Amino acid sequence: MVHQLNGLFPQSLLKAFSVLIFIILLKDVCNGQPQLIGPSQALVARAGDDVILPCHVEPAYDVSTMTLEWTRSSLEPRFVYVSRASQELEKLKNPSFKGRTSLFVDELKYGNISLKISKVKFNDTGTYKCYVPVLEKEAFVKLVVASDAATSPVISLSGIDKNRGGVVLQCESAGWYPEPELLWLDGEGNLLSAGPTETLRGPDDLYTVSSRVTVEKRDSNNITCRVQQRNTNQSRETHMHVSEDFFEILSSSSSLIIGLAVSLALCIMLLILSAAVLLLRKRKHMKNNRRPEDQTDSGDAEVPLKKPERTQLNMSSSSIKTKNQTSYFPLTSRRKLEEEQQRREEAENKLQNIQEKMIKSEIEKNEFIQKLMETFLTLDSKSEKKTEIRKKLNEVKEAAEKLKNPLESKNQQTINSETDEFIQKLMQKFPTMVSKLSESITQQIGVDGSV
Ligand SMILES: *[C@@H]1O[C@H](CO)[C@@H](O)[C@H](O)[C@H]1NC(C)=O
Ligand SMILES: *[C@@H]1O[C@H](CO)[C@@H](O)[C@H](O)[C@H]1NC(C)=O
Ligand SMILES: *[C@@H]1O[C@H](CO)[C@@H](O)[C@H](O)[C@H]1NC(C)=O
Ligand SMILES: *[C@@H]1O[C@H](CO)[C@@H](O)[C@H](O)[C@H]1NC(C)=O
Repeated sequence: MVHQLNGLFPQSLLKAFSVLIFIILLKDVCNGQPQLIGPSQALVARAGDDVILPCHVEPAYDVSTMTLEWTRSSLEPRFVYVSRASQELEKLKNPSFKGRTSLFVDELKYGNISLKISKVKFNDTGTYKCYVPVLEKEAFVKLVVASDAATSPVISLSGIDKNRGGVVLQCESAGWYPEPELLWLDGEGNLLSAGPTETLRGPDDLYTVSSRVTVEKRDSNNITCRVQQRNTNQSRETHMHVSEDFFEILSSSSSLIIGLAVSLALCIMLLILSAAVLLLRKRKHMKNNRRPEDQTDSGDAEVPLKKPERTQLNMSSSSIKTKNQTSYFPLTSRRKLEEEQQRREEAENKLQNIQEKMIKSEIEKNEFIQKLMETFLTLDSKSEKKTEIRKKLNEVKEAAEKLKNPLESKNQQTINSETDEFIQKLMQKFPTMVSKLSESITQQIGVDGSV
């Protein structure tokens, strides 16, 4: 028997058999089991598109009888698609994918497990897992559903930073998905340090981002606001030219405020001074007039003027003291005092007038700056027509004229030499500033208006 067996299985045959087993084992170790292959890069799709998430078995391997799973871990339930022996198990599927996912059934026998998602939404963005439980293999597919509704950033002037002598620009861009980043760049492309980016998410899932930056004169005046989304390579940017004249107007407007404050302080000082002079003069009069009065003190009752005066005094008790004092003065000094009183009232009225005018010109100045801002805002949006820009420019000019007129009328009042000088300076400065501004705006139209 042993001999017979030895005859049936000669040594050479056994050797060949073991080599065969070795080769099979080797093949299994080297190639391993079939692998699942997904895409190496993220897929980018637009909302509403149909997308195919690629996934296949390599080497090709019939998977049509197996259980196949597509999941996204951030979902609950996490199943996007499950099938067993080519039959979908719809009950397991997350309801937000109801009727939107499918496999290519004819491709399963070639090991192609690619998933089709129809009408993708923004919140379909995420990492999907393709999984074959029997093979214990998985592959990942990253999907980004991007918005194509992103608007070009809009730069507006949101304020003035008086401390730094700069303008505060605001940039806003809407309609983004996924969330973008916002950058401010100067003319050389260097990053400007800006405030934090504020992010708003609308009911349509889209993001609106905005940020503010303070631009100083030393920064190059060609400022760029760039909004970009790295995953989707989407980027939009807007340039804004802040003219040097604008900074000049800003600094002169703050000097205008300082000038007005200085002239107000001067007015108050003058008033105090004149009041002091009045008081001194009054004292002098009192001294000069008391002496003859003292001498005729005994004959006081004989002065016919005094009697009705005293009866009047008794009737009005509220002003006893002042009237009592004045009643000792002779008629001429009393008249002088009345005149001085009148003069003081006039001065007070004058001061009030100045204050009112200042408030008015302050309002007009603010209107002027507002108009300036609107003009720059108009310049920024390329879609607007040149005529629109010219209209805005004229409005700026009008506002400047308005600001000029009260200053002129103030000039005519000739309050004092200091304010006169200040107003004179302003009067000289304003028309040149406005014409300079209009020049730069016209240039700006030439550059950007043609785009
Ligand atoms: C899998 O099938 C899809 C749909 O037909 C196809 O687009 C894709 O190229 C296939 N993948 C492979 C690896 O054959
Ligand atoms: C995704 O957004 C849609 C509306 O666009 C909503 O109906 C659905 O419930 C959302 N899905 C998830 C998982 O949040
Ligand atoms: C501002 O700079 C950008 C590049 O950062 C350039 O494309 C644009 O033409 C410049 N605009 C002006 C008015 O210089
Ligand atoms: C984005 O751009 C880089 C380089 O320009 C490129 O390698 C990458 O594939 C792009 N990504 C997408 C999603 O288009």
